[in-house]
Amino acid sequence: MEETRVVMPTPMAMRQAGEKIRQGQVIAMPTETVYGLAANAFDPEAVARIFEAKGRPQDNPLIVHIADMEMLPEVVASVPEEARILAEAFWPGPLTMILPRGPRLADAVCAGLETVGVRMPDHPLARDLIRAAGVPLAAPSANLSGSPSPTTVNHVLRDLRGRIPLVFDGGSCRVGVESTVLALDAQPVVLRPGFVTVAQIEEVLGRKVAVARAVTEEMDFDVPAPSPGMKYKHYAPNAKVILVKGSAEDYVAYVKAHVEPGVWALCHDEQVEALHPGVQAVTYGSEGDDASQAAELFSALRRLDDVGAEVVYARSPSETDLGLAVYNRLLRAAAFHIVEV
Ligand code: TXA
Ligand code: MG
Repeated sequence: MEETRVVMPTPMAMRQAGEKIRQGQVIAMPTETVYGLAANAFDPEAVARIFEAKGRPQDNPLIVHIADMEMLPEVVASVPEEARILAEAFWPGPLTMILPRGPRLADAVCAGLETVGVRMPDHPLARDLIRAAGVPLAAPSANLSGSPSPTTVNHVLRDLRGRIPLVFDGGSCRVGVESTVLALDAQPVVLRPGFVTVAQIEEVLGRKVAVARAVTEEMDFDVPAPSPGMKYKHYAPNAKVILVKGSAEDYVAYVKAHVEPGVWALCHDEQVEALHPGVQAVTYGSEGDDASQAAELFSALRRLDDVGAEVVYARSPSETDLGLAVYNRLLRAAAFHIVEV
């Protein structure tokens, strides 16, 4: 058990952290999406420490973070034209592209695949840390495998205190859900929806983009997944979560009819009044405002643990644009348990 220090990102602390990364340590850093647990992507032992700290399955590859376009050739074998166009449009930002892997990456980063997921984060602290380290950083979300991704320092500490030496304090993450993961095959395919939407990618590329079936459907555990992370149970609070689809009125009526001790609602701000006083509620953002829902979802899931919720009826979000990312995370938190009302 080591002590985990929370550090303010002063220039001196950044330089020291860069040195620690070069020595093979892991460091938790804020990004615009969620906090990441970063290590030198070229160092197999450092990368092994990430898997160990998170308890992450070895077959789930990591995203590599770069600070600028000069770093891209260090991590990939080639850059397709469409990747250049997308980088121009969305980097720095929450878009991860699956590209042919470069030879220097530690094998565990790619989990045996010939590809690597790469992104340039839109958070100055993340890019400062990459520059201070002088190497690309492999970084999954800084949570224990299976729990909601961390959007604050406290979330990181709850999961990883005593398991990592240092977390940089960057406040709350702006986006709140992880990056969009895009494979650039013959047809581009969104493997994980995020803040950069399918429609935005289609507009930039000028052609149709597919969405992997696993984004909205439960996959057979034995079939190889295009993105290994999609097959694992994710984002789950201790409570049993049930996703309730239907109008706001029908949602409220359904939850009221099912209330008993230990039951909580996970709803939008607009439903709280109608649910009270009978039903206790935790909110995640505002109806019709998918950015606020994304920003608050993971905090809300953790709060449900704090209050000791046993059964949670979650209001289903819209399934388009950024709503698709929120829906994808909630579906996994609910282990695909849906009721239509
Ligand atoms: O916003 C984010 O992407 C955050 C921050 C820290 O950058 N990172 C993140 O990493 O969410 P992680 O490890 O929690 O999720 C990475 C996802 C997983 O679902 C993984 O399977 C997929 O990306 N992935 C990574 N490399 C891949 C590859 N080569 N092929 C297919 N999927 C890949
Ligand atoms: Mg994760």
